[in-house]
Amino acid sequence: MKYNIAVLDGDGIGPEICAGAIEVLKAVGKKFSHEFNFSHYLIGGCAIDACGEPLPATTIEGCLESDSVLLGAVGGYKWDSLPGDARPEKGLLGIRKAMGLYSNIRPAKLWPGLAKASPLKHELVKDGIEIIIVRELTGGIYFGERGKGKDADGEFAWDTEKYSVKEIERIARIACELAAKRSKKLVSVDKANVLESSRLWRRTVHEYAASNFPDIEVRDVLVDNMAMQIVKDPAQFDVVVTSNMFGDILSDEAAQVTGSIGMLASSSLGDGTRGLYEPIHGSAPDIAGKDLANPVATILAAAMMLRDSFGLSEEYAAIERAVQKTLDDGWRTADIMEEGIKKAGCSKMSRLVAENI
Ligand code: IPM
Ligand code: MN
Repeated sequence: MKYNIAVLDGDGIGPEICAGAIEVLKAVGKKFSHEFNFSHYLIGGCAIDACGEPLPATTIEGCLESDSVLLGAVGGYKWDSLPGDARPEKGLLGIRKAMGLYSNIRPAKLWPGLAKASPLKHELVKDGIEIIIVRELTGGIYFGERGKGKDADGEFAWDTEKYSVKEIERIARIACELAAKRSKKLVSVDKANVLESSRLWRRTVHEYAASNFPDIEVRDVLVDNMAMQIVKDPAQFDVVVTSNMFGDILSDEAAQVTGSIGMLASSSLGDGTRGLYEPIHGSAPDIAGKDLANPVATILAAAMMLRDSFGLSEEYAAIERAVQKTLDDGWRTADIMEEGIKKAGCSKMSRLVAENI
């Protein structure tokens, strides 16, 4: 089969990690006789530099014409002082919206052999961690009305969190479908003791699950308590569904407790099969261009694309096995380095995984 993949390298370490993922995809193509074609488009800071905007129309068109999209990361110090609408991050928010990708799945798992990388005590992580955060991606406060002004008290600014039943139901469906395939336990995170939008969220998730997935047990956890529980007892969680902002924050926390944010990938999907796949981590401008980044998260993002957009489960498994084999052979990038173990840079790690396909 032939697949057209749009690649949005982005900024910082983005180009290096995307190159690593492409190398692995080519190895998969060779082994399983698929043809992967890659077209690169600009997004984020590099797009601002080249075209004056973080999300040029050609990028949106290229993504909408592709079979699926691979993204590195956006942002960097250079563009930090630009006004809100002109920032690199706006490019990422914009492409998610333009592609209708309302569902963001962020699995935070502790890789076998990497337990030492977790900052938590061994007894808390010894049985493994696999928290799958289902984050609503195109609504809530990141897309709500906002503004700024000046009154008698001086300058002020405001943002709004708004959710409709329709938006909550469609993300609840994704989370319930996932939970149905796993533990049948779903945690829904909100701040219903304070926010009206959270009270609607909570009621809607329960009503939706009760009428469509009656065998799924839904448990509500307030977001502040959730932040605490993730470090206190992360093994208690399986599938977690939450709003855009809470999911953004909690997915970083969940990733960090696994100790390997450089190993974790995410998928963003809407109603069709075309998605956007990216590592959970950011553009790491401090190590950009030094061949130090961990390419594995992006390699695994590419693997998720094969499985979730193209239905290629065997190819997905082949990449996962190749990553595990590389780790088992004792190779680590700097972020997951342990004493007495072999150190690889971004290009070497990518080559090793590709060779293990
Ligand atoms: C993420 C990032 C983005 C987000 C930023 C860069 C807009 O933090 O993917 O988690 O907030 O969604
Ligand atoms: Mn984030």
